[in-house]
Amino acid sequence: MNPADPDGVRLAARATVDLPALAACARTCTACPELAATRTQVVPGVVPAGSRLLLLGEAPGASEDVAGLPFVGRSGQLLDLLLAEVGVARAHVAVLNTVQCRPPGNRPPARAESATCRPWAERQLELAAPSVVVSLGLSATRWFLGPTSLSAVRGRLHDAGGYRVLPTFHPSAALRFGPGGEPRRLLREDLALAVVEGGR
Ligand code: URA
Repeated sequence: MNPADPDGVRLAARATVDLPALAACARTCTACPELAATRTQVVPGVVPAGSRLLLLGEAPGASEDVAGLPFVGRSGQLLDLLLAEVGVARAHVAVLNTVQCRPPGNRPPARAESATCRPWAERQLELAAPSVVVSLGLSATRWFLGPTSLSAVRGRLHDAGGYRVLPTFHPSAALRFGPGGEPRRLLREDLALAVVEGGR
């Protein structure tokens, strides 16, 4: 199976039987020419055994591109802290992005890149089978819910494609507004709600 174009990604993702096989196959993906040419490596999701809470971000940044792991930069460090504050170790939480490669210069993923990459995230979700998904920021929220605004849907559980999805702020917004800002307070509150709703 050769994930070199959108059809190849769809077929390859569908054919993978477990998360290690998916990660190995996704690492060979060249379906988005610019991303394949500029990335250091593909960044598949991390799904600890038995995890019930899954956090969905947008796309890897510079630190993730180097490490090959999602949310290890400043945003990831804030998530680690807030998760610990609400009583969950990051080591027990699944973390995944809608797009598995870093867009150059941290630009938003192009619509075609999101669509092409979608089967990788869909299959990882299917295999992870989380109790609750927290969508971090507008892009991950729209990936599930379609066109909407964060203010319209944040802080409540939504049924989407068989998943219970809780939209909230992206940690980068919490970092931008600082430790006393509203996004950080609400992000923490929403993570706590996700835990209460069974995501631990
Ligand atoms: N931002 C994201 O959306 N995902 C990451 O993995 C890192 C930063």
